[in-house]
Formats: sequence, structure tokens, C-alpha cells
Amino acid sequence: MTSSTTRFDKAYPELGTGRIPVEPYISEQYFERERRYLFPNVWLHVGRVEELAESGAFFVKDLDVPNVSLLLTRDAAGTVFAFHNVCSHRCNRVVRERAGVAKRFSCGFHGWVYGLDGALVGVPDEDQFFDFKRTEHALTPVACETWEGFIFVCLAEQPIESLSSFLGDHFRALEGYPFGRLQACFSWNTEVRCNWKLAQDAFQETYHVPYVHQHSIADALAVNDNPSMHPIACRLSGYHRKVSVAGNPKTVYGNPKAVNDPEMKSYNNPDKPIGSAALRAGIGGSKERFDIEALPAGMNPSNHPDWAFDINGIFPDFYLSLRPNYYQAYNFRPISVDRTRFEGRVYYPKMETAGGRFYQEYMKCMLRDVLLEDWSNLEILQQAIASGAKDEMVFQDNEILLRHSFHEIDNYINARMSETPPVAN
Ligand code: FES
Ligand SMILES: [Fe+2]
Repeated sequence: MTSSTTRFDKAYPELGTGRIPVEPYISEQYFERERRYLFPNVWLHVGRVEELAESGAFFVKDLDVPNVSLLLTRDAAGTVFAFHNVCSHRCNRVVRERAGVAKRFSCGFHGWVYGLDGALVGVPDEDQFFDFKRTEHALTPVACETWEGFIFVCLAEQPIESLSSFLGDHFRALEGYPFGRLQACFSWNTEVRCNWKLAQDAFQETYHVPYVHQHSIADALAVNDNPSMHPIACRLSGYHRKVSVAGNPKTVYGNPKAVNDPEMKSYNNPDKPIGSAALRAGIGGSKERFDIEALPAGMNPSNHPDWAFDINGIFPDFYLSLRPNYYQAYNFRPISVDRTRFEGRVYYPKMETAGGRFYQEYMKCMLRDVLLEDWSNLEILQQAIASGAKDEMVFQDNEILLRHSFHEIDNYINARMSETPPVAN
């Protein structure tokens, strides 16, 4: 039964309002299905083009699921490539450094040499091999495409669809955001003892903020007439999802100094309002100034005056939270059914003043504390859910992104399983 006060169940009735099984969060068998049918087939975010800023730049990205080490390179023509980081001779790991700049890559086992485009360009003692053609022994390529500077790979031999088709209209509405003018200011890479979906779910709803984050960020977001932090707006499109989150206007609008600050005032555009938490986000401190009117239509799509930020959920494991002048790019990488690698980066304009740099240091510590609040809760949550005391969870209307995520993952796995012929005994 639906409630008269709920909104998103009526906008997306196909998702239903039923309970959600706990099995996907604790079952080894379900994890095996994700490992086999989900992660090898979808486009996965692995980094940004700024990490490959010059010819010869490279970095290595290891993914526990599926179990691969990838080599990302840029050649002199500017083309970005992805390869399996595995030698064609006897399958050694070719590149051991995490990142750098090189003209070519030499395998440390017997000295085979590869170009930036993966071609095999050198083989010691070559005439001792049989019927040997270098062109048959390049590094194994991996499908690699970019969107707005984000690099995605797909490990399937033949991707089911292009990256553009996979991302769809949802992300076209975000094109034009000044991603390339922001820099990775700080990052985290850590292991959390919980299922990757459990971790991601905690970043797809704000219902928990007044409780888990009551001593950190709750006052910046929770407001008197919206104590449970109902999202302003929600949009589900295909695999992907978004909510817009309100800030607490009193954190800036109740502060006459902030409201009268000319830098703040310049952002008080009634046609494209940005809210308090967005204004708190340190627009001072950098010479970078972004024209709020020019921000893409996909941000604050409901033009709500108290808008703080949007959470974009990119299927299956990528969280992209966009604010007027900084953004968070988080990945929740599965390791095992109850282990997750969290890879998070936060991007800001280049801060040129002492105040701006102080602000970034403050944000680094504050966001770290917020993450620690989430991790400590999630690790206990994983233990509790794994006890088997409950077979199901109950999602309310404002947890619709979790419901959508559950259905999309389940549907995707079932679709791939139905395409795969059964293994003959
Ligand atoms: S395994 Fe790489 S050169 Fe032999
Ligand atoms: Fe949280």
C-alpha cells in the first residue's frame, strides 16, 4: 500500500514498494553472480584523463572483481588506451609501477618491449621463437572510452553497448560542468569490511545523516521543516539515478556577513539558485570562478532555492556528487562478499590563497571524519545483517535510489545469465 505523503513511489511505480531481500548483501552465491555476470560486462570508471596529461603518461588500475590489472596509457597522438597488464610471452605483470611517464614498457622477466599503443616492439633472441609474428603478440586491449574526461573500461570482448549509450540522456544533461578545471585535491583508498552495495547504499540516501552524522554535517543539511532530509528531487533513468539534496539555509542565509559577502552575493542568481551548503563550499579562495548560470541543466534540475548538491549514481558502483565548484568521485569496488575497496577523490579549483588552502585542509579532515562515521556504522551493519536474523529489509520512499540500485543490479545479472548457455556436464 502506498502513502499519500510519499512521492517517488508514484513517479516510479515499476519499482514497487515491497521489501528487499538481504541475500544480495551476504550471499557468496550472489556475489559469484556479480563477479561473473555484472562486473565483466559493464563500463567501469577507472580514472580521469588528467592522470594521463602528457604523451607516455600511464597508470595501473587493479580491480579485485573481476580479477584484473589494467594498464592505461596515452600515446603521442593523445589517444587513451587500456590493456591487460599481462605479458604476451609467459604472462608476467609487465608494469609494476603505479603511475609514471614512459616511452615504452619492458617486461622484467625476459625483456619483451611494448609501445604506448600496446604493440610488441622488441623481443630478445627473437629468432629462437617458432613461426613468430610480433603483430600476433601485442598487449591484450580492453575497451576504453571517455565521457567528460572520465575514463571508463569494459572488460567484455565485445561491449554490449557503447559508453555513450550506456550513460544515456542522464549524463548528457551534465555535460558542460567544468570537470577539467578542477583538480584532485585529496583522495582515499581503503578497505571496508562490508558488502560493496551496503557501502554504496549509505551514500545514496540522506535519511541516516541526522543520526550517523549528527555531530559532523547534519546541521549543514537538516532543516526544521525537513528533519528527515527528504530529497528535493529524484530522477531515475535506465541504469542510473540521481537525487538533489537541500542545504540548511540558516548556515549561510542566517549569517548577515555571509549574505553580504560580495563573492557570495554574486552567486545569488534567482534563476539558478544555489543553496546554503553549496555556498559554504568555499567559493572564495580560488581565482577559478564558475558561472552558475552556465552550469548544466542536469544540476539542481528542479531549481530549488535551497539546493546544496546532487548525488549521481552511475551503475553499478560509481558515485558522483556535484556541487557548483567541487565534486566527489567515489567508487565502491567489491573485493569479496563482505569486503569493499573504497576509492574516493575530491576535486576543487586550484586554491591560490592561504584561506583557500586552509579551507581545503579543513574539508579534507571534515570529509574524512564523515567517511569514518559511515565506515564504523557499515562494518557493524554487515555483521548484523550476516547474522541471518532478518531475511528482508524495508526501504521507505526516500530510499528509492537503493531500491532502484537493487533492481537494476538484479535485472542486469538475470539478463546476462539468460543469455549464457548452460554449461554442459
Ligand atoms: S614473461 Fe614477459 S618477457 Fe617473458
Ligand atoms: Fe553517511
